Amino acid sequence: MKYLLLNHKMNLLAFQMANYLDKLPHNPHLVVFPSAIYIPYFLGKGYRIGSQDVSSRKMGAVTSEVSAEQLKSLGVSYCLVGHSEWRKYHFEEEKEIAKKIEEATNSGLIAVLCIGEETKEEKYSILTKQLEEGLKFVEKIDTVWIAYEPLANIGSGIALAKEEINETILWIKEELKRKYQQETKVLYGGSVSSKNCHDLKDCLADGFLVGNASLNPEEVEKMIKELETSGENIS
Ligand code: PGA
Repeated sequence: MKYLLLNHKMNLLAFQMANYLDKLPHNPHLVVFPSAIYIPYFLGKGYRIGSQDVSSRKMGAVTSEVSAEQLKSLGVSYCLVGHSEWRKYHFEEEKEIAKKIEEATNSGLIAVLCIGEETKEEKYSILTKQLEEGLKFVEKIDTVWIAYEPLANIGSGIALAKEEINETILWIKEELKRKYQQETKVLYGGSVSSKNCHDLKDCLADGFLVGNASLNPEEVEKMIKELETSGENIS
């Protein structure tokens, strides 16, 4: 089955969490990325958990940040790095992203590097730069997953066409294989929901990073049902 990464972004209120948890299905291919304050709600309940960000610095006097080591010690196993919203609101550049990935992987987290172009014209030059510079300190690529998220499709309600997803995922996989002689998971993100899951389930991505549709557990259940018959083995 393909992976389903649930990116809650800055959503859900505390009183909504009990109902969400009550209804959220269990599946070994599901990884939940709640708002940081809600991570403890998911601990010990059999979910794989991710953080939506990680500090590029080591634990210590860094007010308001959370270190990879702290996340790992809590039971978190994944972290998003370089999501387009974080890049935008924090003016984050590739140099910082590379350091975050280094910290995350050194602490035993799987870093999910989000990449994606703003316009079609710049697509491959942007993706090349984001991969090259973001993965600067990475030696073994299987410690990092890549989430390809074209900015125009995030939150738009319209996913990229399957042919284009396939073309890009294939390109990313070949780039990584050429550089690292090793494979890793490459995901697609951008308006994936139960409505298009059926159509996308046989695409070349190893899974999906889902924003909006992840806020509704019934929607997650429908997506899991669709994806249960999709390829890709668990690791
Ligand atoms: P979306 O968000 O599914 O709401 O488009 C995806 C993402 O930003 O990771």
